[in-house]
Amino acid sequence: MEQTKEDLSQQRAAMAVVRKMLEARYPDGKPLAYTHSYGCQQNVSDGEKIRGMLAEMGYDFTSQVEQADCIILNTCAVRENAEFRIYGNVGNLKKLKKANPNLIIGLCGCMMQQAHVAKKIRESYPYVDLIFGTHVFHLLPTMLQKRLQGQKHVEEITPQDGCIIEDLPIRRDGTIKAWLPVMYGCDNFCTYCIVPYVRGRERSRRPEKILEEVRSLASAGYKEIMLLGQNVNSYGKGLEEPIDFPELLRRVDAVEGDFRVRFMTSHPKDCTRDMIDTIARSKKLCHHIHLPVQSGSDRILRQMNRHYDTAAYLELIRYAKEQIPDLTLSSDIIVGFPGETYEDFCQTVQLIRQVEYDFLFTFIYSKRVGTKAAEMDDPVPAAEKSKWLRELLAVQSEIAQKRCESMVGSLQRVLVDSPGKKGPGWVGGKSDGNIAVEFPGDPSLEGQFVQVRVTQAHNWGVMGEIAE
Ligand code: SAH
Ligand code: SF4
Ligand code: F3S
Repeated sequence: MEQTKEDLSQQRAAMAVVRKMLEARYPDGKPLAYTHSYGCQQNVSDGEKIRGMLAEMGYDFTSQVEQADCIILNTCAVRENAEFRIYGNVGNLKKLKKANPNLIIGLCGCMMQQAHVAKKIRESYPYVDLIFGTHVFHLLPTMLQKRLQGQKHVEEITPQDGCIIEDLPIRRDGTIKAWLPVMYGCDNFCTYCIVPYVRGRERSRRPEKILEEVRSLASAGYKEIMLLGQNVNSYGKGLEEPIDFPELLRRVDAVEGDFRVRFMTSHPKDCTRDMIDTIARSKKLCHHIHLPVQSGSDRILRQMNRHYDTAAYLELIRYAKEQIPDLTLSSDIIVGFPGETYEDFCQTVQLIRQVEYDFLFTFIYSKRVGTKAAEMDDPVPAAEKSKWLRELLAVQSEIAQKRCESMVGSLQRVLVDSPGKKGPGWVGGKSDGNIAVEFPGDPSLEGQFVQVRVTQAHNWGVMGEIAE
């Protein structure tokens, strides 16, 4: 179900009102907004739409929080340390509010979608002006209008989801790579995970909306498009037109232009051979799959409600490597899930050795209020879990080094996206396989594809030189 045009026209009207009010309040120049999105790319993508609305309401942007007239923090709830960091940052804003009573502070995103968090903010951080959840961030204009008209505290948190807001203004963070959500929400309820509670049920964007955006990004000169969803493999469910993720990939791949396409996240339970074949045959899809396994123990995978076992996972990997010989692979791993034993953990390490991932995102299990796993016994002490994690990281570092060594001598197409970390005269980027590559080059290469011959391997990536 998409948001109706009427709803957005109300927000457009509010944007115009806010713009007028801000012009009157700041006659000497535009007010400044500071925004920060924590967490995953989905959140960052929402943040770009929040910035789009702010820009349309007459804000300019600053990267200095102290200079801001409006601060919006778009929060993440996936792990406890993410939440701690955000509480700390919100605490620090108190003195800014004291110094500038006109400052507007807004909190939105996944944390706010949890009732106990919104309550805590309301009670312990009363200087926060706006609180809004993930399903209603498009209401920012009406909320700002109410605040500017004198309402002290404005809150919009609705547990209702199921709608997709199309056609919001957007102000993208970069000019080279773009995020493009293809679906929202998650229905999987992995027992450790808060995301389904704060992002609502799965819903897919219509393919024509996605293709329209791909075309417009291509003609604007974007060189990499990242298709986003918590479980892209279940794309299409519930749409009128019968379409699945591989078909969407084929249509995106057929769009004209000089750009490459990535996507995340694939869920192993829904990842099909058709998807792998599609990547193998495509022109623009990167030969990289992020396929989070989470654990190498079948017992723990069952407890996690992941709906696959290691045999099925490894078979999928085998097929993918066979069809796409230069495939790179990455994964998310959780260490220390409730009830996980050292033996379970060793099975994870064994699986990592078998697959030989190019890189990993590793997390120590974090208890999330409201999830099933939060009710499970969790006897292993935190220090022990940290030890396991270090053990795993040492193994992965070895594997990554070996994977990078196997690239030495090869040609890699690199999208240059930054000055090199080695200093002036160097540039950096990612290969099609998403491996970090650094090489001597001119900053003017930023935003271009360059063929690079790999000369040296590290455990973080490779170094090379521009190929003739
Ligand atoms: N939908 C994606 C990613 C979701 S969040 C997927 O299914 O892969 C990104 C990662 O955070 C997850 O893959 C998982 O490894 C990790 N994660 C989620 N909840 C967590 C928790 N409670 N504790 C530790 N890690 C967690
Ligand atoms: Fe969380 Fe699982 Fe959904 Fe990923 S698939 S967002 S880990 S519930
Ligand atoms: Fe965090 Fe929400 Fe993403 S919890 S990881 S920002 S979906």
